[in-house]
Amino acid sequence: MHFQWYPGHMTKAKRMMQENIKLIDLVIELVDARIPLSSRNPDIDDLSQNKARIVLLNKSDLANEKVNDEWKKYFEDKGFFVVKVNSKNGLGIKNVNGIIQDACKEKIERDRKRGILNRPVRAMVVGIPNVGKSTFINTFAGKAATKTGNKPGVTKGKQWIKLNKNVELLDTPGILWPKFEDQIVGLRLALIGSIKDEILNVEELAIELIKFLSSNYKGLLEERYKIEDVEDPVVALHNIAQIRQCKLRGNELDLMKASNLLIEDFRSGKLGRITLELPGES
Ligand code: G4P
Repeated sequence: MHFQWYPGHMTKAKRMMQENIKLIDLVIELVDARIPLSSRNPDIDDLSQNKARIVLLNKSDLANEKVNDEWKKYFEDKGFFVVKVNSKNGLGIKNVNGIIQDACKEKIERDRKRGILNRPVRAMVVGIPNVGKSTFINTFAGKAATKTGNKPGVTKGKQWIKLNKNVELLDTPGILWPKFEDQIVGLRLALIGSIKDEILNVEELAIELIKFLSSNYKGLLEERYKIEDVEDPVVALHNIAQIRQCKLRGNELDLMKASNLLIEDFRSGKLGRITLELPGES
């Protein structure tokens, strides 16, 4: 598979993030719980040096709950504070505030020693496109939040959302680009819908999904589509097309339609809660 990317966008986004990161104490990094490593950009570690760090396993509602816990532990072992969240319906969001205080304990203590009391923690949300940054900000900030304008020491025009007396959030999230020179990373990003479908071969993607599901989520495809043979992924795709009446003119099977149907069922969670990447795998 071949992916195209847009270097101009990447450079601009990275520059903006470098500027914004200077203004904050805490980086709240969203990853997609279905592919927690493939949905990260490794540059974030360099960019965030000396900042407190939180990883949010977002879209945790779409990922396997047992594996969510494994990933939580994985990131905690690496020194991150971690929360499993569903930014769409708000599940887990109420835990974020407490974790922010924990993650910023050192800064708060440092301030206190210097006689600075109650200076709010300043945070920025970062993540790859489509990981849920805007949804998270909206849900987290909610109605209670008020936007604050320019402040001394803050670059003109920056908007902060005052969440409570302890936390201010930069209202523009930092966009990181995923790194998908690695084929498997590219494939996983494509499956969750992070890479535009127009530049992908959907049939190839569907075949890869069938291969993954038939070896990691046994019985699932058979159950969902009432098909029998999933040993051979190409046959399985034909069977899905047949059973779902995906037909072209002349009664030929429409494999593209069947592929889109399968991928959409996966993305929307209709296939169940599926994690594509496990901790400990390369
Ligand atoms: P971004 O700012 O990082 O680019 O992402 P954005 O918030 O726009 O979210 C991208 C999509 O992911 C949206 O779906 C959003 O609803 C969905 N989403 C965000 N967080 C979660 C989550 O925790 N769980 C689930 N299931 N979905 C989540 P969309 O289809 O583009 O829009 P919509 O139809 O949902 O409004």
